Amino acid sequence: MTEAALREQLAMLGASLFQRGYSVGTAGNISVRLPDGYLMTPTNSCLGRLDPARISKLAPDWTHLGGDKPSKEVFMHRAVLTARPEAGAVVHLHSTYATAIGCLAEPGETAPIPPLTPYFVMRVGRSLPVIRYYRPGDAAMESDIHEAAKGAKAVLLANHGPVVSGKTLADAVHAAEELEESARLALLLRGAGARTLTPAQVDDLLATFG
Ligand code: 13P
Repeated sequence: MTEAALREQLAMLGASLFQRGYSVGTAGNISVRLPDGYLMTPTNSCLGRLDPARISKLAPDWTHLGGDKPSKEVFMHRAVLTARPEAGAVVHLHSTYATAIGCLAEPGETAPIPPLTPYFVMRVGRSLPVIRYYRPGDAAMESDIHEAAKGAKAVLLANHGPVVSGKTLADAVHAAEELEESARLALLLRGAGARTLTPAQVDDLLATFG
């Protein structure tokens, strides 16, 4: 896809997430890898009203090249995109149910959401490391997230929200949606003794769908 098409897609998918309540106010940010750098949502922008022409552009060394000032979470996005060379995009949300799980889970946990359904395993994977709390925009979060992201498509920031990568922007958005729905299911079924997928079923999904 051209940079112009990716800018349009970013604004369209941001609006879609916002309209369906995955992001409120100016919460959340999205980055996309380009051949010559990165696109990043501007700081304090509403995902529902992104102007494709004003989306920030960063150089390969992450310096600001154009568009509005980038998200304060540039360290968070850099942590994942440098840890996962195959990732083309990162979506960070404060979506309600995933964030609720991030308030219940202990930092260091790697499976705060059980494998209840196949699509959670297929889109997010086996592991969702919980990263300890950092103030939004704190550069100190980068190394923790970077280490965890080497072995996981998504991480969950304690008391903050999910950070989800995907091969493409659409993949990252779909995985973030799946993570949120799985968090909602996990909370709905909390304490109810729900059946989870077995380790063999999880292995089969990952072997079949990668
Ligand atoms: P930005 O407005 O700087 O992108 O920050 C929003 C956010 O989600 C902080 O975690």
